[in-house]
Amino acid sequence: MLVRNIKPNGLEHVAIIMDGNGRWAQNKGRPRLFGHQAGARRVKEIVESCPGLGIKYLTIFAFSTENWKRTQIEVSGLMKLFKRYIDKETQPLIDAGVRVRFIGDRLRLEPSLVNLMDRLEELTEKNSAVNLTIAINYGARDEVTRAVKRMAKDVLNGDLSVENINEETLPKYLDTHVLPDPGLVIRTSGEARISNFLLWQSAYAEYEFIDTLWPDFTKEIFADLVNQFDNRERRFGGILR
Ligand code: FPP
Repeated sequence: MLVRNIKPNGLEHVAIIMDGNGRWAQNKGRPRLFGHQAGARRVKEIVESCPGLGIKYLTIFAFSTENWKRTQIEVSGLMKLFKRYIDKETQPLIDAGVRVRFIGDRLRLEPSLVNLMDRLEELTEKNSAVNLTIAINYGARDEVTRAVKRMAKDVLNGDLSVENINEETLPKYLDTHVLPDPGLVIRTSGEARISNFLLWQSAYAEYEFIDTLWPDFTKEIFADLVNQFDNRERRFGGILR
């Protein structure tokens, strides 16, 4: 039987669904945006802890294609928060050797935000200590749909033949084409759902659904989850020898 054996502590890519900011704020009698601000501070802490844990890739779900349904106040507050985060964190991210990428459909985002995103990607493109990927206006079904459209165009142009479409070609058209698949996907706040996040890429990932609300998610909790993963056997449908 074919066995793809990944050695223990082979975890290099962790993806996180950062959930629970709203409830965290409401529990404190504060507006939801207060929770998102606290959530942004956790992003910084978790990114900074990656090198020490051997995590080379961290992908975080910041805004989904479904999040536009939230109130206008919350949506515009989140967009402002992303701009402020990029503005404030550009230099610290460069200094820490973090390479930042964004995934998701940029067409619906404000041009001023897209400019900041492009600039941060450019300014950090030579870094390699940690690869931070931030999903904004991201939905896995939307990503696959956009990928299929681009593939169809390549077929029509003669750049791709139908016979050559397979499990290796399709991911090259996904937003994540330069990233390895995540080994571990974490969702905070007690919800056991994937919510349209990295559906193709997480086919063999381990999932951890934990009760902690995102603003309470510390680097110690993160380290525990990473270390637990390292102690587990991974089989990829085969057997370990
Ligand atoms: C889900 O919590 C969280 C979001 C939709 C936003 C995630 C954003 C951040 C963590 C802030 C900043 C991120 C960056 C990259 C600077 P929720 O609002 O759905 O919480 P609830 O389920 O308790 O309502």
